[in-house]
Amino acid sequence: MDRAAGVSVRLKLTLSYAGFLMLAGVLLLAAVWVFLLRYVPDRAFIVPGSTGTTPGVFPVRSSLLHIFAPRAAAVLVFLLVLGLVGGWMLAGRMLAPLTRITGAARLASTGSLSHRIRLPGREDEFRELADAFDTMLERLEAHVAEQQRFAANASHELRTPLAVSKAILDVARTDPDHDTREVIDRLHTVNTRAIALTEALLLLSRAEQRTFTRERVDLSLLAEEATETLLPLAERSGVTIEVGGDTALARGSQALLLQLTTNLVHNAIVHNLPGRGAVWVHTGIRPSTVVLTVENTGEKLTPQLASTLTEPFQRGTERTHTDHAGVGLGLAIVRTITQAHDGTLTLTPRDAGGLRIMVELPAAAPPADR
Ligand SMILES: Nc1ncnc2c1ncn2[C@@H]1O[C@H](COP(=O)(O)OP(=O)(O)OP(=O)(O)O)[C@@H](O)[C@H]1O
Ligand SMILES: [Mg+2]
Repeated sequence: MDRAAGVSVRLKLTLSYAGFLMLAGVLLLAAVWVFLLRYVPDRAFIVPGSTGTTPGVFPVRSSLLHIFAPRAAAVLVFLLVLGLVGGWMLAGRMLAPLTRITGAARLASTGSLSHRIRLPGREDEFRELADAFDTMLERLEAHVAEQQRFAANASHELRTPLAVSKAILDVARTDPDHDTREVIDRLHTVNTRAIALTEALLLLSRAEQRTFTRERVDLSLLAEEATETLLPLAERSGVTIEVGGDTALARGSQALLLQLTTNLVHNAIVHNLPGRGAVWVHTGIRPSTVVLTVENTGEKLTPQLASTLTEPFQRGTERTHTDHAGVGLGLAIVRTITQAHDGTLTLTPRDAGGLRIMVELPAAAPPADR
């Protein structure tokens, strides 16, 4: 941004210091002047009792001005010089931290986010500003790194189905007696997976934008709907599902919250003990929040592993005996939807194996009685 150059703050401070010093000087000299006027008599007089040949003559008012004025002027000039030099140096010292902060801001604006101000010294206004700036840089840097990781992972994941399709087509082209039916089936599977991945990415960015309209949503109804849809999958995997709890009203997007519930129940079914797993879906109300809990049996997980599962493209224990080859975005979508609804997501490994996932959202006011 181009702006007209103005007077620097250092100069302004210097002028204010010097100005104040001059004002104080003038007031002091004026006080001295008044004092002199009051106590110095009009006429010269001879001190009674002075016996010398030259009688003691004291200054009269008329000559007082001649003596006082040049000295007063000298004092004022001295104060002016002192005010300007001292003020310039003092202002420089005071503003030094600001120069450091400006330097860091300039560096950050050129894209270098790794620089930190780390202002030394005690807590004061500049230190607070510098610390706040450092915290902002830290968060920005982490955010940018996360975005870069995400973009790299997403490109890699999107390339995989394309590369697999190419390999299938290459084989089919060079092999004269290939089975066309099998080629089509394999291409269809790969294509379905690519579409699922792209849809998950689109959903993630939609949830991040927070542009949905908010309406009153009953989580217990969503839990029932999601389980009903996924019941055939649960039956195929030999997993039993129990749904229960109270009416839990939250405010948000019906579609996004259904997606969240579906992802959680889907995970609870597919990352479970095959043939003998169990899933519990529960909704509850707390004083100012509503809670959806999805719990399932499964392999034992460490708290460290559990805390990484919500990262995009993070897959926990990859198991070969499930036919579900996930892309690793399910929980990332759950986390983003929860954050977009100002809620919190908690993952706790169960002692007996498996996971308990809790989504806590601000409660919506119950509908007014008619
Ligand atoms: N309920 C659960 N019980 C045990 N492990 C789970 C559960 N939910 C998720 N996980 C682990 O977390 C990982 C990440 O889950 P996420 O839903 O993000 O991806 P995914 O299920 O592998 O793929 P998709 O994107 O298709 O959902 C899973 O691979 C799994 O290892
Ligand atoms: Mg999943």
